Amino acid sequence: MASEETVTGTTGAGRLAGKAAFVTGAAAGIGRETALLFAAEGAMVAAVDVDADGAAAVADEVVAAGGQAVALTADVAVEADVAAAVAAAEEALGRLDVVFNNAGIMLADDGDAQSTEEDVWDRTMDVNLKGVWFGCRHGIPALRRSGGGSVVNTASFVALVGAATPQLAYTASKGGVLAMTRELAVVHAREGIRVNALCPGPLRTELLMSYLDTEEKRQRRLVHVPMGRFGEASEMAAAALFLASDESSYVTGTEFTVDGGLTAAYVTPE
Ligand SMILES: NC(=O)c1ccc[n+]([C@@H]2O[C@H](COP(=O)([O-])OP(=O)(O)OC[C@H]3O[C@@H](n4cnc5c(N)ncnc54)[C@H](O)[C@@H]3O)[C@@H](O)[C@H]2O)c1
Repeated sequence: MASEETVTGTTGAGRLAGKAAFVTGAAAGIGRETALLFAAEGAMVAAVDVDADGAAAVADEVVAAGGQAVALTADVAVEADVAAAVAAAEEALGRLDVVFNNAGIMLADDGDAQSTEEDVWDRTMDVNLKGVWFGCRHGIPALRRSGGGSVVNTASFVALVGAATPQLAYTASKGGVLAMTRELAVVHAREGIRVNALCPGPLRTELLMSYLDTEEKRQRRLVHVPMGRFGEASEMAAAALFLASDESSYVTGTEFTVDGGLTAAYVTPE
């Protein structure tokens, strides 16, 4: 972990009142929206990202709105970073009740079985799959110390349906997240620790829009989405909030799909 910045304010009431949440990939996209929503719902938030400035900006925004946050710099693919970030979050916030393993990458040169280079495969697996494992490995004991809690792991709709994109390493990594989520859900169910996967559809975030860099490419994708639009990071944050909160107290081991109907579709409307 390269740096740490602690900022504090007061926590309010809300659906996560009194809880502390560890959010990775918090500097942008889903993670950023979720960190802000969790804080608005009363959670103390550890905003964790490899982008130190971005994490600090989110933490500052939480504090400016009257919440409590700590910004932590960590590469989720580096176990020592994750271990240090969990320890720093617990130290700063006093407890952890929610771990949102959300950081992920989609590399431009990820391709099919022939074209994907081994280094692309390895980096994708390191961040998207091993990063989630490290988050669980160090986050679950912290939840246990708080008497239980909720883990939410960000997978993807590509863990559920094939895509002729292709992005083999990304897809395989997200399938791994889903399988790991189920197993951890079963292992920890009787400790009061729930583990669920969030499966977003295609979103209007930097991750996908930088890849779909022409209107033609975007329209080609939207053909497959019954709602006919990309999802918003804020719509994923709303789902993450449900999974993080006690409202989902009987929900564990699920693939919580938020995809505009994509995985339900065969023929979409004209
Ligand atoms: N955008 C989509 O269409 C889409 C669809 C399905 C699933 N997802 C998944 O949602 C998650 C969030 O995606 P997003 O769209 O918000 O992406 P994003 O690129 O907008 O944000 C990702 C954040 O993760 C951080 N990050 C990247 N690598 C990291 C690392 N090694 N350690 C710590 N932080 C790191 C980035 O700095 C960034 O702040 C990812 O796991 C992604 O695979 C996205």
